[in-house]
Amino acid sequence: MFKSYRNILFGAALIAGASATLLANADINANTGGSKKYTNGKLVIDGGATYPEHNGKVGPYYINKKAHSLAINNGRPATPNEIKAWDIDVMPDGTGLPKGHGTAEEGEEVYEAKCLSCHGDFGSGGGGYPALSKGNAYELHKTLKFQRTTPDADGPVRVFGTYWPRASTLWWYIKTGMPHPAPLSLSDDQVYALVAYIYTLNELKLNGEEIEEDTEINQDNVLKVDLPNKDGFVPNIDGPKGLENTRAYFNDYKNYGNGTRCMHDCFKGEPKILPIQIEQKTFLPPLSEKRDLPKNPCWIASCDCEAAGSNANAEGKKIYEASCAVCHGNDSMGAPDLGNKEAWAKVMKQGMDTVLKNAINGKNAMPPRGGTDLPDDKIKAAIEYMYSKSK
Ligand code: HEC
Ligand code: HEC
Repeated sequence: MFKSYRNILFGAALIAGASATLLANADINANTGGSKKYTNGKLVIDGGATYPEHNGKVGPYYINKKAHSLAINNGRPATPNEIKAWDIDVMPDGTGLPKGHGTAEEGEEVYEAKCLSCHGDFGSGGGGYPALSKGNAYELHKTLKFQRTTPDADGPVRVFGTYWPRASTLWWYIKTGMPHPAPLSLSDDQVYALVAYIYTLNELKLNGEEIEEDTEINQDNVLKVDLPNKDGFVPNIDGPKGLENTRAYFNDYKNYGNGTRCMHDCFKGEPKILPIQIEQKTFLPPLSEKRDLPKNPCWIASCDCEAAGSNANAEGKKIYEASCAVCHGNDSMGAPDLGNKEAWAKVMKQGMDTVLKNAINGKNAMPPRGGTDLPDDKIKAAIEYMYSKSK
């Protein structure tokens, strides 16, 4: 039955003739009892497609001349104001830097109100958000050197102070991208103040001197900060000599490997075999060897949870899935994750009242009410659900 249906289709395609675009079919050979050629003379491949032929060329598309018979409408030139609105980057030479000023003291205030929730106390990071400082940039810059040839278990510390080669990027990044949920909401003075604050967190120097809480950072001195990694990007690909610098760098084998060029059989001796040392012991949810269905019928999608007497749990589940799972579904954001007994035991040790208060008011990277408008009892239902799945 199925086969004859396909034969009918095939017949229809043949009748369609020249306009048929898809001829290939597993039945072609069976039906014609031999090899078949496309219009371009090539043999039909089972399962392949054939495309229309036009002026001796075969392809999925051919130019529709009509489409180009009308004048092309390129729009209008952007107005100076439109260009100004887009042209908001700041260059390392200071181009694009607006007038303004701020101190670390002022910056700290803005930081605590608008940045701390994600970037942590004193820019220490956490909760999955990048750190803005790990301490003295000049000391920590040492961790960046030649990791490959002189590896170090802790690895390089790459934060603004230790790693970024230009301060202009910091100014511009904050102005255009932060705070993450409300980009472009900061005034120029606020950005100068935040930059000053981040400088002090990284213990950076300006013209050889420590930046103090009340040191004014403005358009004239902001880029004069002494960044330890300003020459750290080798080869220097900036400017007209960039390409030559790159070539010279890669021609010097001392810059990588062991200093000699080798293309095959480079490794002499016995390879050291390292067994995998991390044994996966915990599975979430825990693996079960039993073959029966879970006891809680609400784990079965089709069950009637109300009848099962766990209406609250079902509601909590719904809220969890809609509003909390983004962060609580795994531990990458630093949130106690669903199924993580240890994490939830620690949270719940504080008592439900405290935990609920924390969820309502927010805590570090946990936004108030998980960023929802849900009333207290719904938040509680979601917590109860998460906890019930993490015991
Ligand atoms: C809602 C969370 C959130 C808030 C609030 C926030 N940020 Fe961020 N910030 C992020 C995330 C996420 C990134 C990483 C973005 C990326 O890599 O794409 C980031 C990156 C940064 C970086 C770059 C760090 C690096 O080394 O790559 C700086 C600097 C920064 N933020 C400054 C600020 C400042 C200043 C504020 C306050 C005005 C702020 N942020 C507020 C989430 C936030
Ligand atoms: C943007 C990410 C995010 C969302 C969305 C989110 N959380 Fe959280 N939550 C966190 C983080 C991060 C923590 C860990 C905070 C800490 O201890 O530093 C946390 C912690 C918690 C805690 C533990 C508080 C304590 O006392 O330690 C509870 C309870 C909680 N969240 C409930 C919820 C509920 C309910 C929802 C959904 C309505 C939700 N969260 C949505 C990120 C989030």
